[in-house]
Amino acid sequence: MSSWYKNATIYQIYIQSFKDTNGDGIGDFRGITESLAYIKSLGVNAIWITPFFKSPLIDNGYDISDYNEVNPIFGTMEDLDELIFKAHSFGIRVIIDGVYNHTSDEHNWFEKSKQSKCNDFSDFYIWRDPIDGHAPSNAGSVFGGSAWEYVEERKQYYFHLFAAKQPDLNWDNHQVREAIYDSMTFWLKKGIDGFRFDSICFISKDQNFKQVDQLNSQGYGLNYIGTANGPNLHKYLHEMYEKVLKKYDAIAIGEASRTNSVEANLYVAPERQELDMIFNFEPMHVDDGENGNISDVNFKMSDLRSIYDNWEKNVPWNALYLGNHDQPRIVSRFGDDKRYRVESAKMLAAMLYLQKGTPFIFQGDEIGMTNVNFQQLEDLKDIDADNKYRTLLNQGVGKSEALRLVKKNARSNARTPMQWDSSIDAGFGSKNPWINVNNNYREINVEKQCNENGSILSFYQKLFALRSSYPVFINGDFNILNASDSSILTYTRSDEDKTMLIICSFDDQKVRFCRPSELKYNDSKLLLSNYEVSGDSVDQVIVLKPYETRVYLLQ
Ligand code: GLC
Ligand code: CA
Repeated sequence: MSSWYKNATIYQIYIQSFKDTNGDGIGDFRGITESLAYIKSLGVNAIWITPFFKSPLIDNGYDISDYNEVNPIFGTMEDLDELIFKAHSFGIRVIIDGVYNHTSDEHNWFEKSKQSKCNDFSDFYIWRDPIDGHAPSNAGSVFGGSAWEYVEERKQYYFHLFAAKQPDLNWDNHQVREAIYDSMTFWLKKGIDGFRFDSICFISKDQNFKQVDQLNSQGYGLNYIGTANGPNLHKYLHEMYEKVLKKYDAIAIGEASRTNSVEANLYVAPERQELDMIFNFEPMHVDDGENGNISDVNFKMSDLRSIYDNWEKNVPWNALYLGNHDQPRIVSRFGDDKRYRVESAKMLAAMLYLQKGTPFIFQGDEIGMTNVNFQQLEDLKDIDADNKYRTLLNQGVGKSEALRLVKKNARSNARTPMQWDSSIDAGFGSKNPWINVNNNYREINVEKQCNENGSILSFYQKLFALRSSYPVFINGDFNILNASDSSILTYTRSDEDKTMLIICSFDDQKVRFCRPSELKYNDSKLLLSNYEVSGDSVDQVIVLKPYETRVYLLQ
């Protein structure tokens, strides 16, 4: 376990959309370096940078063709060295994306592997003979179609959980694991401070590849069956800790979809020496419908509450997030991005980041950036959106309806350029960014909020200052109260001498809050709120305004 994971507050940077310093439309290393003072001002002490490695970019960099080289579109290795050096001088640690479930098909390991069944790289990937002239199983890929792709040279199929251009590495081959550990060591020696491990729950598969009974909407087997949380997963994670992580005090954060809180313990229980924390995906499914996240379903606050109740109680440490580069914008999904954008963005931050775990802020959420009203599919620039759109058309859905359904929860919502100021390019740095700026940048931008006392940005700063001044937010117990309220989420963080009471209304109307009878209110102090509140006492009944949040200290 790293020694600092409990004190980390992490800002996630989607590099291509953060800041462009040479006007080529793509964010870069120097853009991050230039922005370190801003990042520091939020109260964070680490950044996680999404993949910047050599890549043909069919999945925006999650398809890597050389683990130890940077993609020149983001700058040079020297630029990156400078970024790491300067970040450290600001007291900001640097976490990189470890994408080790798969590579690009343009990685030289794969280029050699596909040539024959007997060379040094033949078993670096998962190859199977055809069965009766067909793919070895009905497994589907996350990005559509079969998870198997045929290669004439070998007369075999290879397995790809994601796109066909993202072949899965064969972790059961110890040479693969050693090669990955070597690359991790290369980066750690360079001075990086840890990894966010992409798709880590999938690295060990059940290599029998049985037919899957449960089918996706295209008629293929659901991709996570037989692939998530497979037989040797924890053995490999512990090995990775022993061989690499423990030597560097490096933080290890896992992306583990399709993983429940019981399984989560196997990853993060400190005595197991695997990872420090994983991203809980359950909140990402509260608005799923029949077609997964292509749906008109709205989330229920009570579902979020029971997920937090379970994970905060049963998992020793959590990664606290509600959005990232794969999800729509937090305020559009869980708050109200119109009338109560400011209030609900603040409430969601207090609700999330005062829980027990490490806060992750995705770039732009600290100013309440919203979803985008994309006009056409081409504007989303995403393989996942393309696939979902195509699937809907094949199901007979009309084009405009398909676009409406796809864009609602599309990951492109989070990928538009960071809104720095109100100039024509939103201060991103280029007139023709690789993906268009959200046209609300004149109202929503960093510059404006820096000068505004009641801004979302200033609320984030206060919130993180508060969090770091009371150790109870790190080690205190978590408890849900008033569990039958339909639109107010209430919880406490408490230790021997202090209780923090956090009240969060998800209602767009006024709503009555009755203070929980199990707490003592003799000495209370209001520490944070998103409306003007007079006095420090917690009244027996409080009428909360739309999306109101309050944080009280009781002792
Ligand atoms: C993870 C990444 C996502 C990517 C996928 C395949 O889920 O966050 O952006 O498409 O893995 O690498
Ligand atoms: Ca650039």
